[in-house]
Amino acid sequence: MKLTTALTTKPIFEVGAKSIVFFVPEKFSSKDLSAEFKNFEIDVHEFLMESKFTGSAGSFATLAVQGKGKKIVHLCFVGIGSAGKDKNFSLETMRRAVGTVIKFGISKKFETMVLQLPEATDFGLEVDYFVQQIVTITYIASYKFDKFITTISKEEREKTFEIGFAVAAKDLKKAKTGYQEGEVIGGSVNRAREWIDTPPSQLTPTVLADHAKKLAKEYGLKYTSFVEHDLKSMGMQGLAGVSAGSGQDAHFVILEYKSKKPKAPTIAFVGKGITFDSGGLSIKPANSMEDMKEDMAGAASVINALAAIAQLKPDVNVIGLAPITENMPGCHAQKPGDIVTFYNGKTAEIRNTDAEGRLILADALAYAAKHFKPDAIIDVATLTGACIYAVGPFFSALLSDNDDLTQRVQDAAKTSGDHVWRLPFTPDFKEAVKSPIADIQNVGNPAIAAGTITAAWFLRHFTEDIPWVHLDIASSAFNVPNISYFGKGATGSSVRLLIDVARNWKK
Ligand code: BES
Ligand code: MN
Ligand code: ZN
Repeated sequence: MKLTTALTTKPIFEVGAKSIVFFVPEKFSSKDLSAEFKNFEIDVHEFLMESKFTGSAGSFATLAVQGKGKKIVHLCFVGIGSAGKDKNFSLETMRRAVGTVIKFGISKKFETMVLQLPEATDFGLEVDYFVQQIVTITYIASYKFDKFITTISKEEREKTFEIGFAVAAKDLKKAKTGYQEGEVIGGSVNRAREWIDTPPSQLTPTVLADHAKKLAKEYGLKYTSFVEHDLKSMGMQGLAGVSAGSGQDAHFVILEYKSKKPKAPTIAFVGKGITFDSGGLSIKPANSMEDMKEDMAGAASVINALAAIAQLKPDVNVIGLAPITENMPGCHAQKPGDIVTFYNGKTAEIRNTDAEGRLILADALAYAAKHFKPDAIIDVATLTGACIYAVGPFFSALLSDNDDLTQRVQDAAKTSGDHVWRLPFTPDFKEAVKSPIADIQNVGNPAIAAGTITAAWFLRHFTEDIPWVHLDIASSAFNVPNISYFGKGATGSSVRLLIDVARNWKK
């Protein structure tokens, strides 16, 4: 199935779509329903009452009627709940309502669907942003990693699912802006997911670096890449050390977006790119390894956020850095007990080769700080299993000792719908990564537990005094349950967030 989308100002019954979607508030009355329904033989309000459709968040009902020329049209009703204390409906409920209908349309193999968009003002929002969010979610909801399923015929794959978003004529101009942004954002999220879902022997470090190079060329980003041999001479033993057990070459990819605005501030995004995490010699148990192709989600997120930023052109310079390697055991592999020296000269004792993410990020963070002296650094990583238990699948964990940057990221989380939850990051936890024989060690002291926090303290040694936020996406990157617009596999978490941080930097 291929998704195509368009805006329309036509009355929805004249679009000629096979299915028509209505977003219905809770406790609706027959007056709230489309006047057009009067033309049907069936009393639509009566039908909704009969099918116990309430308009509550998540509620859904569908009815097939004969429209013009006796054609069958599927009417879909999806609940958007009730307005909150501020009299506004919830955007997240709307996102999920959109997710529900798009997945339904796909499962029913509808070829065409038109969504009657509610008024942005009912959500307390501007039309452009509201449409941007709906279009983004439409793309996200339509994603499915099915290219390895051989029972899907070529015709089926080529079939299009045409979706129209019906807006009032007065809103068209702003809606168009939001629509185009949504296409870019949703497309970037899905490209990240595609990479993350790709089997690890097909998405090797070199393949991932090539993907980044291709995007850079397509969207006009500056591309720099270092390979393992360069990394060794540059003193990046963190990244080179993790790569030692792998037959694949490590890469350090740097993408640069330069704003047209003179003297624009610069922000850096750093993403963990472990294309497969076996644990190395501190090997993982089999079941913990099953989904470890997801361990490059941070890098995928940063690279694809940069591709979107290059198209949306915000007034801020953005650098994307991605250290990329596999973490494998083998006769050349790094060993517990080894001590490595990072790009900034600090040393760490490797106590567990499975705590590899912080090692490759350490070099990338130190490089970002030294070479770009950015106004802020945000790193994104599937860093700790502990994060899954700390915040659960619906949030990424945020750690920082900078309240201003934290606020910016929390704001962007809210507007983008890419949710974060801040964890404590007080100096008490810093003790956990002290080593008796090196500057620091790569695992935390068990007495201090809190693996997500102590991992962040490890990273803090490489960010100098630059405002910095660490996002642990181990919780949110893969297999998020119960959210209508996701499904099995990669979610692309943090792509929307990073794009939003950059777009709203000057405000
Ligand atoms: N990539 C893992 C973290 C992870 C776990 C991501 C589950 C997504 C889902 C990371 O490299 C890792 O192995 N972390 C260890 C650190 C420990 C050895 C200190 C962990 O969390 O167990
Ligand atoms: Mn690991
Ligand atoms: Zn890992």
